[in-house]
Amino acid sequence: MTIENTNTPGSTSGWAALPWSRLDGPVGLELAGIDVRQLAPEIIHAAIAEAQLLVFRDQRLDPLALTEFAARLGTPEQYPYANPLHDAPYVVPIIKEPEDRANFGGDWHTDTSYLEQPPAFTLLLAVETPPTGGDTLFADMYGAYAALSPRLQEWLDTLAARNVSGMVHDSGGAHAAVAGAIRGNRAAKAAEAVHPVVRVHPVTGRPALYLSRIHSEHFIGLTREESVPLIDYLQNFAVRPERCSRLRWAPGTLAIWDNRCLQHYPLNDYHGHRREMHRIILAGERPRGLFEAPRDA
Ligand code: SIN
Repeated sequence: MTIENTNTPGSTSGWAALPWSRLDGPVGLELAGIDVRQLAPEIIHAAIAEAQLLVFRDQRLDPLALTEFAARLGTPEQYPYANPLHDAPYVVPIIKEPEDRANFGGDWHTDTSYLEQPPAFTLLLAVETPPTGGDTLFADMYGAYAALSPRLQEWLDTLAARNVSGMVHDSGGAHAAVAGAIRGNRAAKAAEAVHPVVRVHPVTGRPALYLSRIHSEHFIGLTREESVPLIDYLQNFAVRPERCSRLRWAPGTLAIWDNRCLQHYPLNDYHGHRREMHRIILAGERPRGLFEAPRDA
């Protein structure tokens, strides 16, 4: 079922009554001059359903305040593959030191899609940012699905993919070169989950492409060899520049994004400088596919 969003630009209640501007690109809304803690969770949820990504500047949130704010929006979850802050068990510090080369999450992905119930939302607060670089790109997965040919859409609607943690977190995985506390935690149990390739968003009812090259290992019913060319094609297609918005961070910038309809890519173009972010993930639901949903929903 599609839930109608009444908070469209121009209305005088909800988020639209606040000072807002769109990021350049198809996703993202910046709400200016606001202490995010003053906003009702319903307003934030409505804005995120509209824009997929929310950006707030100049937020003063220590790890406890960030946790308390996150807990008003949803249920914070512990991320098993990195060490949280000592006194804030839901806050994962994502730090790249000047001498580090690899960055955390340094390829297109949606967060932890190898879990049975991947996080719905991620909150990321910039603590320290490089003088230039270190932006994050966000790609619209509703737009990616909508732009595919109808016959390919129809086929993808019926497909599921096996998503595995090992492609990132194993010793040979993408995070093996990431330093310190955010390196893949070897003690964490490997996870895998089968999810629909086309995911119906539980709030908006819109279909979104839901796979990624670094998490999706193969399509169910196809071999890895058969799957890879299609995964590659869809990944490249999904993140074409016209589907991307770019977020420039500064200390105090807080982003909240919806993993169910976005992919993100943190740029690694700031060697020699430090970048520190604090991240919390909020619980989501088991992804639902179009083929499980009534067509007229
Ligand atoms: C992540 O993938 O969660 C980190 C994003 C970033 O550092 O910008």
